[in-house]
Amino acid sequence: MNVTKELFNDNYSKRIVQKKESPCTVWFTGLSGSGKSTLAKELEKELLNLGLRTYILDGDNVRKGINNDLSFTARDRSENIRRIAEIAALFLDAGVVVIVACISPYKKDRDVAKSIIGENNFIEVHVNAPLEVCELRDVKGLYKKARKGEIKNFTGITAPYEIPTCPSIEINTDSVSIHDSVHEVLKYLKKHLVDSSMFSIDTLGDNIED
Ligand code: ADX
Repeated sequence: MNVTKELFNDNYSKRIVQKKESPCTVWFTGLSGSGKSTLAKELEKELLNLGLRTYILDGDNVRKGINNDLSFTARDRSENIRRIAEIAALFLDAGVVVIVACISPYKKDRDVAKSIIGENNFIEVHVNAPLEVCELRDVKGLYKKARKGEIKNFTGITAPYEIPTCPSIEINTDSVSIHDSVHEVLKYLKKHLVDSSMFSIDTLGDNIED
């Protein structure tokens, strides 16, 4: 391929220091109905309150736009994740905290995402709710359809979900409230922001150590 990468990002670190931006990606992975989108929305509210710029990349939404050519075969899911990770990397480059909410059922695809985004900027959150709970919730009525055979390759029913073996955070949404779940992610994230010395503990406020 006769394409050469042009480096436009010499100002990247300057931007980070001047604007106190410490970009990272919070990557929510889990079954459909596990609570990824809900947590993403609530987390975004909290981050906006801290004055951070954020953007949510949600599987359902991205699949309506740039990924509307992709199905749910293993191959297309890999491409879905690769593109989402590449988009997230662009946002990171612009200093935006990215929140991804997509099933991302395959470990190897999540590993690809991590390598595209960069290990230090990739916070993997396993949104863990048992299949029975997700199926009972069935917010979109898709589990019912999948059981009837109306949807092929449905994650948890006729397609696999590979449980993250070493996520940064695991949240059990069947036993922990949304508020507490978001708080848990926030606590981790604040520590990440402080560790990358973009913020002082004072700036980020309470509960960082608990
Ligand atoms: S992923 O597996 O490629 O990461 P993604 O998060 O983008 O999936 O999209 C999942 C959403 O697509 C689900 O929340 C659900 O609304 C919808 N969906 C439609 N068909 C399927 C299917 N076969 N398996 C899982 N989700 C599906």
